[in-house]
Amino acid sequence: MVVARVAAFAVVCCVIWPGSWGETDHTRCPVSFLGRCSCGMGFSRYDTFKEKKYTVNCTNTGFTNVTLLQDLPDRTEVLIFTGNTIPILPFNVFSNMVYLDFLETIDMSNNHIKFIQGRTFHKVYNVKNLILSHNNLEITDDKERPRVFSNFENLERLVLTNAFSEDSNSSDYLLSLEDIFYESELVYLKILHLEQNEIWTIGDNPKIFCQLPALEQLHLGQNRLFDFDFRIDCLHSLLYIDLEMNIIPRLSDDAMTRLDSVLEPTNKSLQIKMTENPFSCDCRSKNFVHWLNTTKVKVMEWEQYTCLDGYPENNIGKHLGEVHELKCPSVHGNSVKARSENIANYDSGIYPPDDHANHPHYHGYSSGTIGALSFFLVFTSSLLLAVAYFHRKNLQNIVLPYWDFITRKIGYTGLSNDEAPHEVNV
Ligand SMILES: *[C@@H]1O[C@H](CO)[C@@H](O)[C@H](O)[C@H]1NC(C)=O
Ligand SMILES: *[C@@H]1O[C@H](CO)[C@@H](O)[C@H](O)[C@H]1NC(C)=O
Ligand SMILES: *[C@@H]1O[C@H](CO)[C@@H](O)[C@H](O)[C@H]1NC(C)=O
Ligand SMILES: *[C@@H]1O[C@H](CO)[C@@H](O)[C@H](O)[C@H]1NC(C)=O
Ligand SMILES: *[C@@H]1O[C@H](CO)[C@@H](O)[C@H](O)[C@H]1NC(C)=O
Repeated sequence: MVVARVAAFAVVCCVIWPGSWGETDHTRCPVSFLGRCSCGMGFSRYDTFKEKKYTVNCTNTGFTNVTLLQDLPDRTEVLIFTGNTIPILPFNVFSNMVYLDFLETIDMSNNHIKFIQGRTFHKVYNVKNLILSHNNLEITDDKERPRVFSNFENLERLVLTNAFSEDSNSSDYLLSLEDIFYESELVYLKILHLEQNEIWTIGDNPKIFCQLPALEQLHLGQNRLFDFDFRIDCLHSLLYIDLEMNIIPRLSDDAMTRLDSVLEPTNKSLQIKMTENPFSCDCRSKNFVHWLNTTKVKVMEWEQYTCLDGYPENNIGKHLGEVHELKCPSVHGNSVKARSENIANYDSGIYPPDDHANHPHYHGYSSGTIGALSFFLVFTSSLLLAVAYFHRKNLQNIVLPYWDFITRKIGYTGLSNDEAPHEVNV
């Protein structure tokens, strides 16, 4: 009885919608969807609710495989398949027999996806919008699949928010991601989301985004970046970089130069968002604050950013726009200059590693600590040098044999060591 009614309903459906194939049930989805999904016209949040789209929605439906997607109606424009448990996406998720000419959005977020096979997605030539957020993607294993996105010929927006397994170090999977971008030829990609991926540096492959020539927006918020450390001179369409909620105390001189240089020859505009970073308002940030106030890069609302740390201490809690005094912490009041130079050198290179290695408390170190440490360092080095000077004769006797040994070693590899004394056998 029920079967007969469902079958009759399906026939009616097929008459009303000549585009759909196979039997459908009361959800208007194919029967293989087991009545768990919904199919029909609906406003799409992926185009900010502008138009109604034919939407297939399988949200929190408990599927553990994607066999049903073989029956995806060919008129589908938006596929939402989220909140299921699909550790491995198999080959050919969609049927080879169906043309999915209208499919423009695929949302497969929150599915515990670990592996995507190289040939998972076919028939996705018109998809503009791919969302794979909140999965456990593994892309660093030896079965590299650099062509996973290669059939998304027209992809414009790729959302990989919190998409990668927390088991792998971001600097490893970013290397794999660069291969993926390179092999997949995403030449129309405009928007890339990589928020919440524990990314702490992009410096190991600074050209990663150069594989995306049409990129306009790069979203890197809520990561653990401590500087802007990748290249954008290759991105001629770039308009916006989101770096909010990272752990940037200030931009390095190098970062500021790189940002300025992309704007130089043309009238391009570039916006950067850096809200809610733990800014440090002491002498080391002088260049940064000056840059904010003068650069053509539009650092959005920078005057409102808050100093989490600083010197003088009354800078702490102030907005960057109201800070007028940026000093180095002093212990006694004299020799401040020497120390500030010391710190300036420290700052001009790569940021010291232990400043970003562990941040249980988004805080960095206090400027007072740095001042005291630098002072101690200078003091101890001077003391050692003085001692060394007074005992230089003794030292010579101790050090020379080793020096000889070392220079001989070097000598073997082709460097001459003629001046080294020869009285000690090695
Ligand atoms: C998809 O279905 C879920 C649960 O049935 C619902 O909460 C959600 O709003 C639907 N999404 C769209 C875009 O229709
Ligand atoms: C796929 O999932 C459906 C529904 O959960 C189940 O009935 C079917 O047996 C599964 N197929 C395979 C090949 O595991
Ligand atoms: C990632 O690896 C780098 C070096 O390979 C290491 O310095 C860093 O601490 C690692 N980060 C995490 C979060 O494990
Ligand atoms: C740059 O912009 C200014 C004012 O917006 C305009 O007058 C000028 O022609 C532009 N120059 C180029 C090279 O586009
Ligand atoms: C920014 O520059 C203006 C004028 O050039 C100056 O009056 C102002 O104090 C500067 N602001 C900061 C925060 O440096």
